[in-house]
Amino acid sequence: MSISRELDELEREEANCRRCPLWRDATQAVSGAGDPKARLMLVGEQPGDKEDLEGIPFVGPAGRLLDTAMAEAGLRREEVFLTNSVKHFKHDQRGKRRLHKRPNAYEIDRCRWWLTKEFELVAPQLAVAMGATAFRGMASRPGKVSELRGRLLKDVCEVPVYVTVHPSFLLRIRDRGDREREYGRFVRDLKECNRLASA
Ligand code: URA
Repeated sequence: MSISRELDELEREEANCRRCPLWRDATQAVSGAGDPKARLMLVGEQPGDKEDLEGIPFVGPAGRLLDTAMAEAGLRREEVFLTNSVKHFKHDQRGKRRLHKRPNAYEIDRCRWWLTKEFELVAPQLAVAMGATAFRGMASRPGKVSELRGRLLKDVCEVPVYVTVHPSFLLRIRDRGDREREYGRFVRDLKECNRLASA
């Protein structure tokens, strides 16, 4: 069976995931998407409101920023594989609004089952952990982005890992100068990941 068809099969299995309670309040599981033979896999935290409704990773505000940063780093969405360490949207309902809630260690670790299968099928040269939840999803242990960022970590999981910030972190920075500086660092990280994955 082709990798693409195996990923489709995986998506069908994820749709029925009951490994933790998060499926109950989510619209659907959001599976990884992109090139099934990608050299680079980018891993986020969990789908947001828009991703939950559309069933596609990184289509909301963080995804738009990621697309722009990837373009500056010479990467296109179609040539990478985008996924999340947690496949269901965890949130609090406040009236009509659904507010993002960070997944806990149990939920991340239960969802590792799916990430493992994505690693096996796509077999990227490099996986980028965007934020601490993504790192936990890969390493099955906590880690601080500030300490791990910028290094090639070869013994964390099945594939080499590079840690950087999550694009949502950039969206939350109020000061324009700080935001621009951090955005520049993020683009440089993506460029470095592109280089490492091509080496
Ligand atoms: N944030 C994530 O971590 N993943 C998405 O898919 C969207 C926003």
